[in-house]
Amino acid sequence: MMDWVSEFSVGNNNLDDDHREIFELINDFRYHSMADFDYEISDSDAEYLDLLIEDLIKYCNRHFVQEEAYMRQINYPDLNQHLSTHVEMKERLADLHSQLQKGDTKLVKEVSDYLNYWWSEHILKEDMAYHDFAKAHS
Ligand SMILES: [Fe+2]
Repeated sequence: MMDWVSEFSVGNNNLDDDHREIFELINDFRYHSMADFDYEISDSDAEYLDLLIEDLIKYCNRHFVQEEAYMRQINYPDLNQHLSTHVEMKERLADLHSQLQKGDTKLVKEVSDYLNYWWSEHILKEDMAYHDFAKAHS
């Protein structure tokens, strides 16, 4: 379970709200993929997970645009490095998505673990870096 707690706050309400929503989508994904950890995944669950990934991709893209605009606004010096982590994540998720669509349901757990791991690490390290920068320069 991904619980949004205050240590995840990046000091911007809109971005925090996005992160909370992303955690919800990831939890939803995890919840609906649980059965697959031990059993074959049902067709209806596979369909639901597919739609969920599509939602997640759309939501993440929208969020990254907002976050990138915010980093520009505060003149964050490590913007390019940060952008490349977003690109990497989008590519990895698109890749996992297309493998899942080919019917490789064994990947469901990997997708779930990847999303949990990437998002918590990313917020606590990369996002916190622009938060610290904004605090030091305001
Ligand atoms: Fe970010």
